Amino acid sequence: MTAHSTSLKIGDKVVDLPVKEGSIGPAVVDIGKLYAQTGMFTYDPGFTSTAACESKITYIDGDEGVLLYRGYPIEQLAEHGDFLETCYLLLYGELPTPTQKSDFDYRVTRHTMVHEQMMRFFQGFRRDAHPMAVMVASVGALSAFYHDSTDISDPYQRMVASMRMIAKMPTLAAMAYKYSIGQPFVYPKNDLDYTSNFLRMCFAVPCEEYKVNPVLSRALDRIFILHADHEQNASTSTVRLAGSSGANPFACIAAGIACLWGPAHGGANEAALQMLQEIGTVDRIPEYIKRAKDKNDPFRLMGFGHRVYKNYDPRAKIMQKTCHEVLGELGIKDDPLLDVAMELERIALKDEYFVEKKLYPNIDFYSGITLKAMGFPTDMFTVLFALARTVGWIAQWKEMIEDPGQRIGRPRQLYTGETRRDYTPMAQRK
Ligand code: CMC
Repeated sequence: MTAHSTSLKIGDKVVDLPVKEGSIGPAVVDIGKLYAQTGMFTYDPGFTSTAACESKITYIDGDEGVLLYRGYPIEQLAEHGDFLETCYLLLYGELPTPTQKSDFDYRVTRHTMVHEQMMRFFQGFRRDAHPMAVMVASVGALSAFYHDSTDISDPYQRMVASMRMIAKMPTLAAMAYKYSIGQPFVYPKNDLDYTSNFLRMCFAVPCEEYKVNPVLSRALDRIFILHADHEQNASTSTVRLAGSSGANPFACIAAGIACLWGPAHGGANEAALQMLQEIGTVDRIPEYIKRAKDKNDPFRLMGFGHRVYKNYDPRAKIMQKTCHEVLGELGIKDDPLLDVAMELERIALKDEYFVEKKLYPNIDFYSGITLKAMGFPTDMFTVLFALARTVGWIAQWKEMIEDPGQRIGRPRQLYTGETRRDYTPMAQRK
């Protein structure tokens, strides 16, 4: 990181502020001493111009539609890599050698089972609970089951907690699904790869042999790669903020899952599919486009737009291809939802409103159709996102904890409430 400085004039006072440059992307003005020098805060709700940390993990160029994990383009990783290789890359910064990869796979695989008492913990949920509610609770509860990996000052415990979460997320996600449909939990099977194991835990039943479809397994693995990290988005920032207080890693990831659940973030894949189902047929698209453009209507085209991508979301391109592959493999020739999605995309991409605001399909636009075709119910979509994003959250949390300069995150505010006033006794209030 190279540094120079810039000056800022406030009233008649001029302050010198360091400028820091990263390896690529916009430089930042370091305002860390601004308050001490001027008595003023900066104001940026929604963090549109604020870098909250320094990171070496993921880079996005929203104007060019570029996404790099540790420097590697998402397209190359999705085509040539597998999810656990991506996990290794995000966590340790380099692609693994063959020995490192098999050792990593072995370590993750050996942590896939959850404490047997977690089964009883699950029985407390209503069967109709949203699986994201179950995930927030059960991942948070891991800290009550694995006390030996909650000391964040111990690098070994941090590593064990990381392995546990990456390994147990598929098991917990599958349990949340099985519980919701009243089927018995399926234990992990360690001779299967990560994603095939997950598919089996979701769709196998004890009374029948289950054969993993390699095309679907590869497609889902690729979907996991696409979702693995996305720099300082809302849930990742939540994990970092929670972690900055020294909270244990299971609690921090539970906080990230809670944030991801919202429809403006990870919940958009569920919302996008619901929207496509609501539109139903191609002839109703103009009505919905009109609603999306109406300032007095809160309706938005779900799966469209992104805070950072102002060009096509590179993940959406791969997701669209994967969607066609999955439908082809399953012999679904005419999916009305896919017809609606493709026509909606075609119309929106020509429409002045969407063009001018640079609103393009994002990753969630095609993921719902793909996951539905694989057999996942809508309310599991965000759970799959959480499963894949866990490694990104952990890598970012680990990077923060390992930074010797790390401090608790504590934003300030512009106070616009009442100024000081005296308490009025109850009897005198009207
Ligand atoms: N449909 C219609 N209009 C939209 C949409 C949309 N999907 N997205 C943004 N706009 C309009 C918005 O009304 C605003 O118009 P104006 O400037 O006239 O007020 C303008 O575009 C900018 O929108 P914004 O809300 O200020 O942008 P943001 O960066 O705060 O929000 C977003 C980004 C992703 C929350 C938003 O585009 C959105 O709500 N999209 C739908 C939900 C969605 O698909 N989310 C998934 C994001 S990708 C997965 C992930 O990373 O979690």
